[in-house]
Amino acid sequence: MQKERVLSGIRPTGFVHLGNYFGAVRNWAKMQEEFDCYFCVVDWHSLTTHPDTKELKDNVHRLLAELIASGLDPEKCVLYVQSDVPEIAELYLYLNTMAYQGELERTVTFKDKVRQQPDNVNAGLLTYPVLQAADILIHRATNVPVGKDQEQHIEMTRNYAERFNHRYGEIFPLPKAFNYYGDELIKIMSLSGEGKMSKSENQMNTLYLADDDELVRTKIKKARTDSGPTELNSPKPDYIENLFTLIRLVSSPDVVQRFEADFNNCVIRYGDMKKQLGEDMVKFMSPIREKALAIQHDKTYLSKVIQHGREKARASAGETLKLVREAMGINY
Ligand code: TRP
Repeated sequence: MQKERVLSGIRPTGFVHLGNYFGAVRNWAKMQEEFDCYFCVVDWHSLTTHPDTKELKDNVHRLLAELIASGLDPEKCVLYVQSDVPEIAELYLYLNTMAYQGELERTVTFKDKVRQQPDNVNAGLLTYPVLQAADILIHRATNVPVGKDQEQHIEMTRNYAERFNHRYGEIFPLPKAFNYYGDELIKIMSLSGEGKMSKSENQMNTLYLADDDELVRTKIKKARTDSGPTELNSPKPDYIENLFTLIRLVSSPDVVQRFEADFNNCVIRYGDMKKQLGEDMVKFMSPIREKALAIQHDKTYLSKVIQHGREKARASAGETLKLVREAMGINY
């Protein structure tokens, strides 16, 4: 049986953090064993919010290195850079004729960006979901692992695919947001307890794969706690639950059990818990960081990876575009 095709994209706009790692990238690494996977560094998308390209190349290289260090294997998946695949831009052009101004203006992410960057409401921002649809449809992918905030974009992608199929012929399968690990989907909150760990959060409240050991320890030491529960078996406040989420991810089960019991018995010492978490987090993160650094500096290897990804991605994209052009009668 043919494997289902998975595609996801990640913007090269910042450092990969633990929210990206546990919420997305680690799952992608599992998916590549089971599915036909495409993972794309979407540098064109980043231009809609980050027009300054001075650091773009470094960011793309670092992101690729961090993805590989996190377990993506360029031999098991197609790992590539969006701007290496001009077929995406051509499909974007066609899909733009199927996307209506009104619905683009009503997109939640667009409205957010208008608020965040009122001086740069560019057309690329408006049609961001169309470019994302092109990313997905160019490989006729069906399964798109994304977080909740991206579901509207996937729905829009389905609409464009349906409109295309209806107007020109059945070319595209309809993709869906893909939550493969169901309830296991892990959300990492910021260490301050407010909102998700994210690229735009205060850097001290976010753990980045690139953080050195001391910084990891310091950030965890400063994570929000309180004076502890006063009633047996209390519910945990969000920021405490988040520390438990982290310790479950990186510490051994007996360590977790001990702190759970201490919490339930109202004798927990958060200082001790954070010290343990800091050490176990360093043990978990430092090999990934070291591997990423080594890859990032190995430009020969990186350029091989990029070229390999480009070839595989363009082969698949070229097939789709051929069908698209034939369906549209753009084949003189
Ligand atoms: N918009 C996505 C985000 O902000 C990134 C993205 C671009 C993407 N193209 C994609 C995600 C295609 C999934 C599929 O996270």
